[in-house]
Amino acid sequence: MSDYILEMRHITKTYPGVKALDDVSMSFQKGEVHAIVGENGAGKSTLIKVITGAIVPDSGEIVYKGVEYSHFTPLESKHLGIGCIYQEFNNFPGLTVAENIMVFSKENKYGRYKINYRQMRKDAKEVTDSIGVKLDPKKLVSELSVGMQQIVEIARAVAENVEFLIMDEPSAPLTNNEIDRMMEIIKRLKEQGVTIIYISHRMDEVFRISDRVSVMMDGKYITTLNTCDTSNDELVRYMIGRELTQIFPERKTPIGGPVLEVKHLSGNGVSDISFTLNKGEILGFAGLLGCGRTETMQLIYGAAPITGGEILLNGKPVKIESTSDALEQGIGLIPEDRKRHGGLLNQSISWNITISSVKKISKGITVDTKREKEIANDYKEKLRIKTPSLNQSLNNLSGGNQQKVVVSKVLATNANILIFDEPTRGIDVGAKQEMYELIRNLSEQGKSIIMISSEMEEVIGLSDRVIILHEGRISGELTREDLNQEKILKFASGQLS
Ligand SMILES: Nc1ncnc2c1ncn2[C@@H]1O[C@H](COP(=O)(O)OP(=O)(O)O)[C@@H](O)[C@H]1O
Ligand SMILES: [Mg+2]
Repeated sequence: MSDYILEMRHITKTYPGVKALDDVSMSFQKGEVHAIVGENGAGKSTLIKVITGAIVPDSGEIVYKGVEYSHFTPLESKHLGIGCIYQEFNNFPGLTVAENIMVFSKENKYGRYKINYRQMRKDAKEVTDSIGVKLDPKKLVSELSVGMQQIVEIARAVAENVEFLIMDEPSAPLTNNEIDRMMEIIKRLKEQGVTIIYISHRMDEVFRISDRVSVMMDGKYITTLNTCDTSNDELVRYMIGRELTQIFPERKTPIGGPVLEVKHLSGNGVSDISFTLNKGEILGFAGLLGCGRTETMQLIYGAAPITGGEILLNGKPVKIESTSDALEQGIGLIPEDRKRHGGLLNQSISWNITISSVKKISKGITVDTKREKEIANDYKEKLRIKTPSLNQSLNNLSGGNQQKVVVSKVLATNANILIFDEPTRGIDVGAKQEMYELIRNLSEQGKSIIMISSEMEEVIGLSDRVIILHEGRISGELTREDLNQEKILKFASGQLS
């Protein structure tokens, strides 16, 4: 028998118009954490579906513990001890934690728990103990946080004695603390001999948790590497299939004079914020989670009341009391949570692009739909938004393209000051690079840019200057020449000032 618990051999799966899997072979060693990375649409989820039996491949074989199969049925996969945690949860929200965990376990044979709730709760607690988490077994799952609901799913897999656990982008909806906890659970499961496939967009997680990492691109298997022998750059190169010589484009035009001056601004949990933004500059805002970056921008954008200090635009004090005041003054915000605040997912792309600049395309009270289409099409081309039609609803686009629509919407208002809050969160590497180019181009066209980012690499790579916040106040400022990770972290943790 080979060292592998699972081998995928020459798997092909075609959908109308796309080879989702193109002759993919990949092998998994018993007890390893094996990450799979690749851009959106690379074929990761399709490969997983072959393993869980959700789809039947067109050709190829699966070898599990030395036995060859042409494909699995979902039941076979389950009986072989394969479990999968999807991004969308599969819990029963109206049932308790204990019921959710134990429902499919072998201890529940013949519906034993129907008459023995106490035993069920005891068994559920044993399971949660084994993965090192505390969860009240009597609580309803609907009352739990997203992170805890995910843990319930993992616990259920454990109760079903999974030997092979697949996690397809499990961290996407989680907070940093919840991710930490999930990493701990994965380590425990690995110690217990469980083999794990871990799919994530976040490279830091891949490096934290995986033993080996496989790369997919355009439905093809590219390579498998020992995680400790590779680097972020190497993986990204494999993922996008080209060199990363210039992920952060250099500035080619000079920076101008002050556009926005903020003096001793207070309110919304921050105090005494003073800084200047120059024409054509990219000003980075760094700091730890909750340090007040978003809160500061809400003041400038009119989304929260100012209690002290002032804002000057082109040397003149201005009153910004609402977001429409801000738009009027040429300040636009591309928010962090674009799913909730950036655009309406079930509305069309053209609607989303033009909604904030609706005055421009209105004749009286009717909207000029021809003009709407022209504007939308203009941005589609300028920002290279990938979509077959502008009538598509926003939720049909990939994260990177959704982000471009939100940027278009702000640009259509003719804003000169653009505030990006975490511009590349949740989008994949190729789309990130495009976003960097876009931000750099906008700055060279004379737009002045504030960029809040928690990704150190991007703060350092793109900013002309960086302001660091700590507990609601500015703790430091670094020019391009002085920028490095160590200094930013010191200011961010309040150790320097
Ligand atoms: N049910 C389906 N019908 C048609 N095309 C699909 C279906 N599922 C996936 N695809 C296509 O297959 C390709 C791979 O998708 P997927 O496996 O979801 O990629 P990933 O998980 O790496 O983002 C994409 O081009 C996707 O649009
Ligand atoms: Mg996927």
